[in-house]
Formats: sequence, structure tokens, C-alpha cells
Amino acid sequence: MSDHQHLIGLLLGTEEDWPTAFEAIVRRLGPVVDGRGTAHHYDVERITIEPFDLCSRPRYDLVIDRLAYWYYHPREWLKKAALMDDVYLLNSPFTFQSMEKHAAYCAMLRLGLKVPDTVLIPYKNPPDHTKYAYTAEKYNQPFDLDAIAERLGYPLFMKPYDGGAWVGVSMIRDRDELHRAYDESGQRLMHLQKAVAGYDVFARSLSIGPETMVMKFDPDQPMHGRYSVAHGFLDAATGDETVTIGRLVNAFFRWEFNSCETLIRDGVVYPIDYANACPDIALTSLHYYFPWAIKALVRWTVYCTATGRRPRLDLATRRYFDIADRTDLSYEEKLREYRTMADEYFETEAYSDFCASRLGHLDEVMHDWVRGPDFDRLLVDTVRATFPPHEHDHFIAHYRGLLGLWVRDEETRLNRV
Ligand SMILES: Nc1ncnc2c1ncn2[C@@H]1O[C@H](COP(=O)(O)OP(=O)(O)O)[C@@H](O)[C@H]1O
Ligand SMILES: [Mg+2]
Repeated sequence: MSDHQHLIGLLLGTEEDWPTAFEAIVRRLGPVVDGRGTAHHYDVERITIEPFDLCSRPRYDLVIDRLAYWYYHPREWLKKAALMDDVYLLNSPFTFQSMEKHAAYCAMLRLGLKVPDTVLIPYKNPPDHTKYAYTAEKYNQPFDLDAIAERLGYPLFMKPYDGGAWVGVSMIRDRDELHRAYDESGQRLMHLQKAVAGYDVFARSLSIGPETMVMKFDPDQPMHGRYSVAHGFLDAATGDETVTIGRLVNAFFRWEFNSCETLIRDGVVYPIDYANACPDIALTSLHYYFPWAIKALVRWTVYCTATGRRPRLDLATRRYFDIADRTDLSYEEKLREYRTMADEYFETEAYSDFCASRLGHLDEVMHDWVRGPDFDRLLVDTVRATFPPHEHDHFIAHYRGLLGLWVRDEETRLNRV
């Protein structure tokens, strides 16, 4: 039997919870033997930021990146590692840099998805330099903001074209709020988007490789209460449509670790936010779903490296547009075509086989870890780092309860009781 050593790199910001979990599970997993009898051994390392020679070879086979969206140095390091060294990246820094929320809206509108009506409006306060002042003076057309809002219809959302983390997002119910929000937008470039008012369900899907967890979400709750433990809150067809939308976005842009927000009203699925370079995977947000997320990250990481999956930087835009532009296909038929292409991109079938035949022991590994003292220590440390002291006891009990529920459900699923 031959051996193959793989090093997984984590490019991290301020998070400690999921990286600690990921490291623990990879180390407990042990070698993974592929179909040809090769044993794949894994190690994980946190990547540090330092000068790099453009021709130096990184030691990593795969990098999970949580940093490059915000900082230039790691972003450019990732691009070098992608272009020169074929390092497998979650995610592509190229499309996340160039395809902001705005471009992602455009592409998915072209593909026929039901993104609410959206208008990009010019800066309230243009960039402050003389050349732009000249351009603005000469070429900026006056426009009637009220007329745009009335055409879209209230209520509306005003939000940055490249938004994230709800920064600068406001709900607009009338003219006064419209002008106040626009005045406050300053130098941020904003969308005006028709609200999906009175939606039935907010479904937030987290996708990792070909796996998607669709979770019931409530944006009006405080952070710890936004995801609820709910199964079967969408009918089968709507659930499948929601999964397909997330997978399509990801295959289209080559994003392999991303979240997708959809609002569902009267059975219609409206995608509103699906370009999240650094999707929320915090223990205190995901709670019950946290073990799934870590397992999915481990599975996809192992699959990509053990099978030698090549990173794919090239997009297949035209193939998707060819489907989009067909007039003989309904929305449902187009979604089916996209789903086939997305599953091809993610090798969904081969991945399922691999997980079943090569990674069957991961469930046990995760279950044992979550039941044990190391996980409990992580839970306690995370609560202490996240909440003020007078809330520690309450939240430690709260999260222990949710993870205890996961352990019991998992035991039922694995037929242990
Ligand atoms: N068109 C819309 N209809 C209803 N709610 C919306 C709409 N757009 C945004 N929202 C609300 O505002 C929140 C933040 O907007 P979003 O587009 O997700 O921005 P961000 O990228 O900052 O997360 C959403 O989670 C949702 O609650
Ligand atoms: Mg959002």
C-alpha cells in the first residue's frame, strides 16, 4: 500500500471555533484509503502572512480561505497559489473579487432566477477627486429617485451593491425614509431593491462542495437565535429548488463554500443574497448544524485531495447562458438543466460514493468528539469569547442543550439506540 501526505492550510481571521473543530476532526480521522489502496494522511496548518517569492512553492494541497475577501496580501498570495501551483482553493479569489453581489444578481437574473427587481443608483456623494468631479459634472444625468422607488413599489431595501454583514442595509417604507437613506449612503454605491414583503419562510442554505444544508432563518432574532432547528419546513419541491439555486450559483462562479439566502412567498423562491465569501459557520450561530458543517468541510477537503480533483478556474458561463437563452424551456426545466451541470461540476455522485465507501467512519469520529470533553471546552471557550460575563452560564447551558439534541438525533440516525 502506498502513502500520500496532504497538508491543508487554513487562512484565518478572528475565528477559533470552527478551525479548532476542523483540526480536531482531521487529526482523529486518521488515514483515508482510496479505491486503489493508497493511504492518504492529513495534516492541517494555520497559514501565516509573510513576504513570499512569486516562484516559491506553497506546501499546501488545499486552502480554506476566510481572509482574502478583506485583505490584499492573502488574496494575492492565493492568486499566485492558484495560477502557479494548482493549489485547490475554497473559494476562487478571482470570482469573489470581481463578482460582487451586484454581478451575482446580474448573472442569476440572466439565468432566469427570481431576484427581486433591483436598480443600481449613482453615488450620493461622488468620489472626492478632481477628475471624477469633471466627469460627474459633464456626464452624470440628473435622475428622479422618487420615480424609481415608485416604479419598484414600496417597501424597498436600499443596500450596498457589494454588501455583507448587513452593513448599510435599510428597509424603506416611504419617500422620507428613501431620501434619508440615500443621503446617509454617502460614498457607498447602492442598490434599490423591491422587498419581498410578508414572506412565509427565510431559508438560508450553507453549501460546502456538493452538500447543502437549508436552514430556517429569522433575521429579526439576535445572532444566537437566528437559525432554528427545523426539519421539513419546506415542501419537497421548494426544498429541492432552494438547493438547486445554491448549487447553481456555486457551480457558476466556482464557489465551494458559500451561503445563499432565499425568501419564499406563496411557493415562489426569491434569492436575495448569495455571494458570501466568508459564510457564517460560527458555533454560536449554527449550533445544532455545526457538526454537519465541519463534517462537510472535512469530506470535501478529503475528497478533493485524495481523488486529485483539479482546481477549476475557468468558468463555463456560455454553457449556462445557452440554457438561459432557450425560449422552449420553462423555469423548472432550466433549473433541471442547471442542476445537472452543477452536479457535474461538483461530481456529486462520485462524491457520495466516496463518502459512503471511504469516509463512513467520520460520523462516529464526530459523534464521539462532540460527546467528549474537548468539544465541551471549545463550547465553553467560544461562549466566553462571544457573550458578556453575566450571560455565560445561560448560553453555555443553551448550547449544551442544542448540541445534546444533535448527539441524540445522530444516535438515532446511526441506529445506536
Ligand atoms: N429584497 C428583500 N426583501 C426582503 N428582505 C430583504 C431584501 N433584501 C434584504 N433584505 C433583508 O435585509 C437583510 C440584509 O440584506 P442582504 O442582501 O442579505 O445584505 P448582506 O449582504 O449585508 O447580508 C436580509 O437578510 C433580509 O433580512
Ligand atoms: Mg445577507
